[in-house]
Amino acid sequence: MPFWRVGSSPTVRTVKNSKIKIRNFSPSDLKEVMEIERLSFPNRKLYPEDYFRKLYQKYSEGFIVAEDKGKILGYAISEVQKDLGKIISIAVYPAWRKRGIGKTLTNFLINNFKEKGVKEISLHVRTKNKVGITLYKKLGFKILKTNKNYYQNGDDAYLMERKLGA
Ligand SMILES: CC(C)(COP(=O)(O)OP(=O)(O)OC[C@H]1O[C@@H](n2cnc3c(N)ncnc32)[C@H](O)[C@@H]1OP(=O)(O)O)[C@@H](O)C(=O)NCCC(=O)NCCS
Repeated sequence: MPFWRVGSSPTVRTVKNSKIKIRNFSPSDLKEVMEIERLSFPNRKLYPEDYFRKLYQKYSEGFIVAEDKGKILGYAISEVQKDLGKIISIAVYPAWRKRGIGKTLTNFLINNFKEKGVKEISLHVRTKNKVGITLYKKLGFKILKTNKNYYQNGDDAYLMERKLGA
């Protein structure tokens, strides 16, 4: 089923002994998404609710959540500009990590990018975020370059890319 219709009919994926739903974000998920954001990025200024609302309004089909029994376990945000896809953010509720949810969310975005005719996916990740870098490398992303002082607090970022074959 095309990804932009999962809002009405969630896709079920199995991750370590549980079945989770992947569906489009809905504004009523915002509080839980903000809580995951707060727990996932303790060392940076949190994005305000409005930031998430704007991303949703700009490209709602690229904003997905993982859900189990009504609880939001993780989210992923992306956007598409012509044939370029961009992963903006991915985070999983700490107690639900290391079960494959991050990989499932990222693969979901990648499949959507393929359906949209995206040729290349890019993302930025803190050079110190070893777990994030491992996740993306595992899914075929390569480090293209380092952007010094990319983040507000002066942290450096890797620009990572994955080409989607013809
Ligand atoms: C990065 C993050 C989204 C991964 O979510 P997750 O659901 O735990 O990831 P998965 O279980 O799908 O793991 C995917 C791969 O990442 C790597 N990984 C995950 N957790 C790891 C850890 N604690 N240490 C080392 N590698 C790890 C592994 O290679 C794993 O693959 P494997 O299980 O086949 O070995 C999660 O740790 C998180 O929310 N972190 C805080 C926010 C963040 O840094 N986001 C990414 C940058 S925007």
